[in-house]
Amino acid sequence: MPPREWNAASYDRMSDPQVAMGLDVIERLDLRGDERVLDVGCGSGRVTEQLLARVPNGTVVGTDGSQAMVDQARERLGDRVELFAADAAELVVDEPFDAILSTATFHWIPDHDRLFARLHDALRPGGKLVAQCGGAGNIANVEAAIAKVDHPALRGWPGPWNFAAPDETVERLTRAGFTDIWAWLQQWPLDPPNPREFFATVILGSHLERVPDEDRMPFVDAVIDAMTVPLRADYVRLNILARRS
Ligand SMILES: C[S@@+](CC[C@H](N)C(=O)[O-])C[C@H]1O[C@@H](n2cnc3c(N)ncnc32)[C@H](O)[C@@H]1O
Repeated sequence: MPPREWNAASYDRMSDPQVAMGLDVIERLDLRGDERVLDVGCGSGRVTEQLLARVPNGTVVGTDGSQAMVDQARERLGDRVELFAADAAELVVDEPFDAILSTATFHWIPDHDRLFARLHDALRPGGKLVAQCGGAGNIANVEAAIAKVDHPALRGWPGPWNFAAPDETVERLTRAGFTDIWAWLQQWPLDPPNPREFFATVILGSHLERVPDEDRMPFVDAVIDAMTVPLRADYVRLNILARRS
C-alpha cells in the first residue's frame, strides 16, 4: 500500500506537540551546522524548519509520502529546502547524507526492515540516523477507546500503526548494517489543544478513510467520549540513534 494523503493544512495547525517532541530529537543530531541532512517524513515542514535553523552552512532536504504534505512544506520553506514526495520504504537518493532525522513517522510504515535498509543506503559511511516515532504501548488508551466504539467498518482491521519495541528495533537496525545503536522508550502524555481536530487529523486519519463520510466526526466524538476525563493521549515515543558503519 502506498502512503496515504494527509490533511496537510490541518496537520500544520495541530502539530504543536509534534514540534515540541521534534525539537528534542534535533538536539540529538549534535550538528556542526555544515552537514547535508535529510528529514524523512517531513510533513508540513515545521520540524524541518527548526532543523534548517541549525544547519546554516549545510543543506536540508525533506521527503514525505504525502504530496499534500510536501506542498504544504514548500509553502512554508520555499526554496530553502529541497523537497520531494516518496515512500520512505522505497527511498533512493542521488547523493548520500551526513545525517537523517525522522520524527513521528516510522510507526506509519509497516516494514521497518525495508525502511532501515533504505535509510542505511541513503547515508554516507559514518552517517547518523536520529529518529523518534510511536513505540510499543503508544496511545494504548486511545486504542482501547477505538475498540470500545467498535465501528463495523473497522472490525478485523489491525489498524494503521507499527509501534515497535526497542529490542526488535535494535535487531532490525543491526540487520540493516547500522552500528552504535540505541533505542529506548519515553513516556510523553499529552493533552491535545483542540481534541476534535487533533484526533481527526493527527491520530485517526487512517481510521476515518475507512468509515463512511457521515460517520467520520461522530466516530471521532465517540472515541473522545470513550476516553477518561481529563482527556489525555498516552504517547510513548521510541527514540533511535544509530550510525552507518
Ligand atoms: C505525524 S506526521 C509527522 C510530520 C513531521 N515529521 C512532524 O514531526 O511534524 C507523519 C508523516 O509521515 C508521513 N508518512 C507516513 N508514511 C510514510 C511513508 N511510507 N513514507 C514517507 N512518509 C510517510 C506522512 O505523510 C506524514 O507527513
